[in-house]
Amino acid sequence: MVDHDADALRATREGYDAAASTYADLFRDTLRDRPLDRAILGAFAEAVRSGGGGRVADLGCGPGHVTAHLAGLGLDAFGVDASPAMIALAREAHPELRFDVGSMAASDLADGELDGVLSRWSVIHTPPSGLPAILAEFHRVLAPGGHLLIAFSATDGPSRPTQSFDHSVATAYRWSPDHLAALLRESGLAEVARLVREPEPTDRRQFQEVHLLARKAPDGA
Ligand SMILES: C[S@@+](CC[C@H](N)C(=O)[O-])C[C@H]1O[C@@H](n2cnc3c(N)ncnc32)[C@H](O)[C@@H]1O
Repeated sequence: MVDHDADALRATREGYDAAASTYADLFRDTLRDRPLDRAILGAFAEAVRSGGGGRVADLGCGPGHVTAHLAGLGLDAFGVDASPAMIALAREAHPELRFDVGSMAASDLADGELDGVLSRWSVIHTPPSGLPAILAEFHRVLAPGGHLLIAFSATDGPSRPTQSFDHSVATAYRWSPDHLAALLRESGLAEVARLVREPEPTDRRQFQEVHLLARKAPDGA
């Protein structure tokens, strides 16, 4: 990891430590009003189970509400987050589940340990220079045939591979879906499907929301 990526991670951790309670209050029930998110999470859970396994990490899990949703779908789900305050809230809300403080770019997980990785809005604070290392780590920890579901905001159009945007916690980035799919492919993760949600007029940010489902080759390549 180069220094400015380490600086970005430090700023992200400190920002979410300070904002953890507010974030949890705003988002702990968010899936209730998001049928498309529930649909793609359900498809991810089925894809993971169809491989015969169910061990899934929610990387950048925040307060753990989506980790708990995955556990409710029958997966052996646990969460990892850089922010100790987020992990404390996740453990308090879901004492039956495992939550660890850690970095997505360098986890303690063994090669091929997971059947699935969820990265939901957790790469948005990763500078574009740091993203390939994180995608390589997702590939490393997935078993052959394992699935990744990654959510992020889209840029204003395909001619803009990445754009930064104002975010109250830390500098944040969006990606063109095709560009992120290409980066996934370069990391050995082939796109399976994508869901692109158009912004509602009432949404605070008028960005498309993208959920990309990708898979590591069954032969582990
Ligand atoms: C926008 S929140 C998303 C939380 C949750 N996934 C959700 O869907 O609500 C981003 C989370 O990712 C975590 N995060 C960002 N970069 C990370 C990294 N490199 N390693 C571990 N966690 C990270 C932050 O601490 C924060 O809790």
